[in-house]
Amino acid sequence: MIKIAPTKSIKYLLFIYVAGSLFYATFHVLQLSQSNPPVPRHRSGGRITPRSANDESMFQQQQQQQHVIIPTKIQQYNEHLEQKSLSQQQIQQPYLNAFMMSKVFYSSMGASKNVQPYFFKSQATHSKDDVTISTLVTPNRFHVLARLASNYKGPISATIHIKNDEDGVDALTELNNLMENSPSMQQHVDVHLIVDDYDRQFNMWRNVAKLFAQTEYIMMLDVDFHICTDFRTTTLRQLPKRFPELKQKLDSSHAALVIPAFEYEDQKDGEDWRKFPTTKSKLMQEPIDMFHRAWTRGHGSTNYTHWYQATEPYKVVDYNYSYEPYVIMKKEGTPWCDERFIGYGANKAACLYEIYLSGMEYWVLPEDFIIHQTHHYPEQTRDKERWYNRKLYTNFREELCLRYTRKMVADEEWKTPRADNLKTECAKIKGFSTTVQKMIGDIQEEE
Ligand SMILES: *[C@@H]1O[C@H](CO)[C@@H](O)[C@H](O)[C@H]1NC(C)=O
Ligand SMILES: *[C@@H]1O[C@H](CO)[C@@H](O)[C@H](O)[C@H]1NC(C)=O
Repeated sequence: MIKIAPTKSIKYLLFIYVAGSLFYATFHVLQLSQSNPPVPRHRSGGRITPRSANDESMFQQQQQQQHVIIPTKIQQYNEHLEQKSLSQQQIQQPYLNAFMMSKVFYSSMGASKNVQPYFFKSQATHSKDDVTISTLVTPNRFHVLARLASNYKGPISATIHIKNDEDGVDALTELNNLMENSPSMQQHVDVHLIVDDYDRQFNMWRNVAKLFAQTEYIMMLDVDFHICTDFRTTTLRQLPKRFPELKQKLDSSHAALVIPAFEYEDQKDGEDWRKFPTTKSKLMQEPIDMFHRAWTRGHGSTNYTHWYQATEPYKVVDYNYSYEPYVIMKKEGTPWCDERFIGYGANKAACLYEIYLSGMEYWVLPEDFIIHQTHHYPEQTRDKERWYNRKLYTNFREELCLRYTRKMVADEEWKTPRADNLKTECAKIKGFSTTVQKMIGDIQEEE
């Protein structure tokens, strides 16, 4: 295992959080002894010790992780609450130990020991058939996360990555203040903290947010979007009655629901979400266009022309491998995002490609939509990075086609509709059909 010498900044981080925890401890003890029933806890203690790899066994490490740096009374109180709120959830053991984490994240960059699930844990218990917004938040967007929490009022699972340096400390301080002052964040947001020096591991961060989401359904979303309609409590509750087949597909991980994304033609109009339309008919009167018109292939498969007239969910028929819609899907039984994609370009499309290839259909919801909020933090281009990821994506698609063909043949799904997406999509790869014919022959000979 790699030994990481505690840098000055780790010490600084530790110091701040030990001090912070002590302060909280005193504060909470005072409150505990005064109030009855006890006030809900709004942070999971000062669990900020970046786990340093050392030569202890995994069991000792596990014990150590539970050994948070807060006085016993508060610790017991925390544990009590934790058990209570987690018992209804699917995740029985959220605090995976470092060894397990190294397997879980083996294809990403050494992040295994640096993931702190539920660094902040939400107070509200959400029913398990709710939809968790699964997202990643960079430090310049914390305020956007707070806004999302107060608008959505449902569960949010957010991965936050910081570096082990002064900026990281500043970011944590800011996040902490925001938490203190935002009841919605305290209620709804689980923050999973990653402290390491590996930048822009977007797909790994996405997977962390999905892994620790506490409901059966997730929506993969970029935090800049404003959720304009109430798909969470309206559309989805109506789905079983109005479209039972689609609901059945959703539940068996055979379909993902697309919420169409829009943006204002004039960026200035997109600054104030309070003026955003909340119904489709209002949306159609606004100077609004599909999201990223300049990169049509990103959202074009949604078919906006069709959407404007649609009154029922419809299936995406013109899939494009660059398609990257925002979707609601089952948490379990759906593919993860490939973590070899690091940095800008193709990372999100790769997630949606694998989902599609695995046999899932994309169904666009007719009444719901999200709108991109104009922001003023710099958009990074990183052309080199995108260029490399494009290359990786080309190879990835071929690899995936072969892998899923092999799998579907072995699972006897090759002749079922489950393989339809794969067959049409992979046929676009040069030489694929010939290879597949040979491969199917080989697989059958092996048997
Ligand atoms: C994807 O969309 C773009 C632009 O709309 C188009 O040029 C391209 O041919 C499409 N690719 C596939 C594989 O459908
Ligand atoms: C998109 O929808 C329009 C309107 O329903 C339809 O005429 C068109 O064929 C669709 N495009 C594709 C590629 O399916």
